Amino acid sequence: QSDLIHIFNGIPFTSRSSIDLLRALNAFQAREDDLLLVSYPKSGTHWLAEIIKHLYTSKVSLTSPLEFGDVSKLEELSFIGSKRIIPTHLSYDMLPADFKAKKCKAIYIIRNPKDTAVSLFHYYRDNPHLPTIDTWHGYLDMFLRGEVVCGSWFDHILGWEEHRNEMSTLFLYYEAMKKDLPKTIRKISSFLGININDNEISEICKKTSFNEMRSNVEKEKSDVNHTVCALTSNKKLIFRKGTVGDWKNYFSNKQDRLFDELYRSRMDSSYLAKHISYDN
Ligand code: A3P
Repeated sequence: QSDLIHIFNGIPFTSRSSIDLLRALNAFQAREDDLLLVSYPKSGTHWLAEIIKHLYTSKVSLTSPLEFGDVSKLEELSFIGSKRIIPTHLSYDMLPADFKAKKCKAIYIIRNPKDTAVSLFHYYRDNPHLPTIDTWHGYLDMFLRGEVVCGSWFDHILGWEEHRNEMSTLFLYYEAMKKDLPKTIRKISSFLGININDNEISEICKKTSFNEMRSNVEKEKSDVNHTVCALTSNKKLIFRKGTVGDWKNYFSNKQDRLFDELYRSRMDSSYLAKHISYDN
């Protein structure tokens, strides 16, 4: 059990992120055209990655997550010849300094933290790389204390928010994507400087729908051994429900109150909180 998780810099990582790699990360050499896909786990990273893959017509490489693997990872990434799209769940503090020095572009996707918590709960239950958890109740306490893998949702968001002007960061919201995907795709393409017309946008919407992506994984049409989440290589674990508001099926009134209190106290002066879809 406990050998599945180790603590680095105060943050729980799975054994799939080796200590040697985490220690070596800061020496990573970024390139000016690297694109980072940043998220707290279970926020819609695979969805975002799929959209972005479809946006580029030139060759790009969607790599495995920056913090996934052992120390050979850094060298492996340096051999990639084309533009690198690099997913990560790292906190802003732990992001290699060279990305900051080179002012690389980053896209950060945010999801309602209650739905994120529910999604991570199922991940804990189904993913052999995460410790077993007993009950929803016990798990939610862990989530609120930030004792889950990748640490506290609040710390993650607020850390990236605090430094939002140091790189070129676009913040996206899962719920806004569910509501109006074409709008988000337009935002992404203008951020990346890619021209796209309405037909192409609606094509991408079709190809990246939850059902389409899930059935592609089931038909093994996509590479199931390549995820953009450092916590698993099994893509089948990713496509569970893909909805907004599933938290209502899990939270008791009391849990909801406790969560709201913490949210209010931590997010009160947050700039991003104005855009986070919290009440549905
Ligand atoms: P649920 O567990 O609530 O279903 P990540 O990719 O960051 O690991 O996030 C996984 C969550 O995104 C899962 O949430 C998953 O179902 C959802 N998801 C994946 N692809 C999606 C899509 N095309 N549309 C909507 N949600 C999607």
